[in-house]
Amino acid sequence: MAAVRKPLIAGNWKMNNSHLEAIALTQKLGFALTDKDFAATEIAVLPPFTALRSVQTLIDGDKLRLLYGAQDVSPHEDGPYTGDVSARMLAKFGCRFVLAGHSERRIHHHEDDVLVNSKVRAVLQRNMTPVLCIGEPLEVRQAGEHLDYVLAQLDGGLAGLTAGQVGGLVVAYEPVWAIGTGQVATPADAQEVCRAIRGRISAVHGHPAGASTRILYGGSVKPDNMPAIMAEPDVDGALVGGASLDASEFVRICRYRERSTA
Ligand code: 13P
Repeated sequence: MAAVRKPLIAGNWKMNNSHLEAIALTQKLGFALTDKDFAATEIAVLPPFTALRSVQTLIDGDKLRLLYGAQDVSPHEDGPYTGDVSARMLAKFGCRFVLAGHSERRIHHHEDDVLVNSKVRAVLQRNMTPVLCIGEPLEVRQAGEHLDYVLAQLDGGLAGLTAGQVGGLVVAYEPVWAIGTGQVATPADAQEVCRAIRGRISAVHGHPAGASTRILYGGSVKPDNMPAIMAEPDVDGALVGGASLDASEFVRICRYRERSTA
C-alpha cells in the first residue's frame, strides 16, 4: 500500500518581518486560508525568533490552523551560549517545526553536517519536527556530483537516529543555485534528487521510514511553477522563501491543486 504523506508547505521568512509585520502577514493568511486548504495540506510559517511569540499568540487566540516553527536552533541545552536559542525555548512557544542546516546557515555560519546532526537531535528531544535542509551548490551540480553530495549531507544529518525518528521528520532539498535566484529546478531535477533521498532513507533506515519521511523541494518556488513540481511522486511539498512574504502569492502556492499541469 502506498504511504499517505500529507503535503507540507512551509514559508521560510528568513530575516524578514518585524513582529508587527509578522502579525499583519499572519492575519492575512488566517483570513485567506480555509478549512479546505488545511484539509489538503499542512501549511506552516517560519518567522524570525523575534516574531515567534506574536505569531503564536495570534494563531492560538484566533484558533488558526496554521502551523509555525523556527529557522534555527542551538544544539545545546540552556546555558552560556550568548545569542543562541534552545530547543526547550522553541518547544515552549509551541513550535511544530525547526529548520536545521539551511544552506544560508551552512554558508554564512559555517555549519557542517556534525553540527546539523546535533541540531536535529536537539529538536527531536523536545518532540518537535526537524526539517533537515540539504542541497548542492552550482559547481557541484555542474560537475554532475549532486546526488553524491546531497546524500552525504543526508547521511550526516540523520546519523544515529532511529528509524522511527527518521520516518517522522522532514527533509528539504534546496539546491543552492535555485535559492533566491528565480532559477527553479526543473520538476525532473527535483524528482531525481528527492527520489534518491527517499531511496537512501529506505536503504539505511528501512522501507517504512523511507515511505513516510516527507521530502520538500525549495528554491524559487512560485505559484506558477508549484503545480508541476508537486506532480512529481517523491516531492511532498515545498519550502518557500521570497514568495512566502506575500500573503496572496503564498496562498496561491498552497492552492497549487487548483491549477492543474495537465
Ligand atoms: P526562495 O524561495 O526565495 O528561493 O528561498 C528558498 C529557501 O531558501 C527556503 O528555505
